[in-house]
Amino acid sequence: MAQLSIRNLEKVYGGALKALHGINLDVKDGEFMVLVGPSGCAKSTTLRMIAGLETVSGGHISIGDKVVNNLPPGERGIAMVFQNYALYPHMKVRKNLSFGLKLAGEKKDEIARRVAEVADVLEIGPLLDRLPKQLSGGQAQRVALGRALIKKPEVFLFDEPLSNLDAKLRASMRVRITDLHRRLKEQGQSSTVVYVTHDQVEAMTMGDRICVMKDGRIMQVADPETLYARPENAFVAGFIGMPEMNLVNATVSRGEGGPVVTFGDQSVRFGADLAGRLAAGTDGDVTFGVRPQHFRLAAPGEDALIAKVIKADFLGHEVDVHVTIGGERFTVVLPVEEYRKASVDGALRIRPDEERVFIFDRVSGQNISLA
Ligand SMILES: Nc1ncnc2c1ncn2[C@@H]1O[C@H](COP(=O)(O)OP(=O)(O)OP(=O)(O)O)[C@@H](O)[C@H]1O
Ligand SMILES: [Mg+2]
Repeated sequence: MAQLSIRNLEKVYGGALKALHGINLDVKDGEFMVLVGPSGCAKSTTLRMIAGLETVSGGHISIGDKVVNNLPPGERGIAMVFQNYALYPHMKVRKNLSFGLKLAGEKKDEIARRVAEVADVLEIGPLLDRLPKQLSGGQAQRVALGRALIKKPEVFLFDEPLSNLDAKLRASMRVRITDLHRRLKEQGQSSTVVYVTHDQVEAMTMGDRICVMKDGRIMQVADPETLYARPENAFVAGFIGMPEMNLVNATVSRGEGGPVVTFGDQSVRFGADLAGRLAAGTDGDVTFGVRPQHFRLAAPGEDALIAKVIKADFLGHEVDVHVTIGGERFTVVLPVEEYRKASVDGALRIRPDEERVFIFDRVSGQNISLA
């Protein structure tokens, strides 16, 4: 079993800069966990501490049921794949793959068997006698993956392994890696993964669960659907989803007929759903959140917001419409046909979908509408 457990993990660089503020995280045996967050939030720091490449300033890391804080990297049962795959340039692919096993004193025929196995899984058999400089980016990355895989580690650590590849190759490597993970699992091999990226699409498409980080702290850990549908705070809400969720200043007042949300000189009344989700006593200044996809056109005569169109970006079947409502800027995504029909004198009559709007505390950013 190779579950990974992180307790109150801290990192202080150079005695002054606190990069990681006591995080707690459990990764289950065989789970694919993605660490995601903006540059500098300490994703690599966390990963490098798990790998043993960085000292621990406080707290514990366990792999299986063993605390590994003071174990050297080679004894942790991990393998790591980096962004700049760092293949040995003077060694052919075959040797790049087998080098680690040879150092570990593995027998010759066992090494040959494992090289063949890994080459087969990653479809790099025809490349075994090439030098790294004779490989494309995607091929080199597969060799780097093979070098990790051949060790049969209990835990795989990936630090932005695809960020040097172009968009198309990145998409196909994503599928390859998740597919490989699934197959290893089916074969009963332990394959716990911690995968670092700053790309939310990569996180959403690859992770069984995703850990969203900011400034050395964990903002939320959940499966992709939950992160999208139930963000615990405005940061996660804004980080996950494209285009970004609209997060705007608003005021809420709880009237008889349901909560009324006001942006500048415009208001919209919601009903029982939002009333039921809002924490007791919520009134006054808040941050209102609604995804661009979660607006609909208002029916004639229905209570609506008047959205003044600033710019419309046509993306084929959809339009990203940039609007202002009561002076606040929003993005609204609509099907092209609907937009064409509904836009009158540069304005749209729209309503947010009540069941998918959120209210966040203006100061703390906590989602106070999850019920
Ligand atoms: N060796 C180091 N010495 C001092 N400060 C460091 C060191 N490595 C990282 N830091 C600092 O620690 C913080 C976290 O860095 P880290 O590299 O873990 O971020 P990251 O989330 O991986 O960012 P990126 O997405 O840019 O790779 C940053 O403020 C960084 O400047
Ligand atoms: Mg990094």
